Amino acid sequence: MAVESTLLIVKPDAVRRGLIGEVLRRVEAKGLHLVEMRMTAIDRATAEEHYAEHREKAFFDELVGFIGSGPVVVARVEGERAVPVLRSLIGPTDPALAPPGTIRGDFGLIITENLVHGSDSTDSAERELKLFFG
Ligand code: RTP
Ligand code: MG
Repeated sequence: MAVESTLLIVKPDAVRRGLIGEVLRRVEAKGLHLVEMRMTAIDRATAEEHYAEHREKAFFDELVGFIGSGPVVVARVEGERAVPVLRSLIGPTDPALAPPGTIRGDFGLIITENLVHGSDSTDSAERELKLFFG
């Protein structure tokens, strides 16, 4: 057994579209556990820290602006291999190319508006969970 914790963010586009329940349903249906969760707004400083690895990228301003563009749901998700399992439920970054059956593949079309975030490694998960849950 390798029980892990990871950070899920239901991004502002998914919240605006009424998809909070659909996203959380899929996470729970897989067998992962929502152990801590809140609805919040991500301020500029927190967004920049969360996406620090992308600071030099051309899309950084757009990315940070988007994640702060409306309410989000942040959750601590726990379970067996939770980091890669959540990523597989979410699907590849570009929703236009994400396969049906994944959250991005079923609901998204535009790369910025890709509905959800999941930590990409156990190290990222630890850093991101500290940022949002202390
Ligand atoms: P996330 O961190 O949001 O869960 O997404 P990810 O791991 O699948 O992708 P990542 O490489 O970490 O990129 C972070 C976010 O940046 C936006 N992006 N835009 N315009 C572009 O070429 C581009 N590339 C990435 C995406 O919205 C992605 O979620
Ligand atoms: Mg990422």
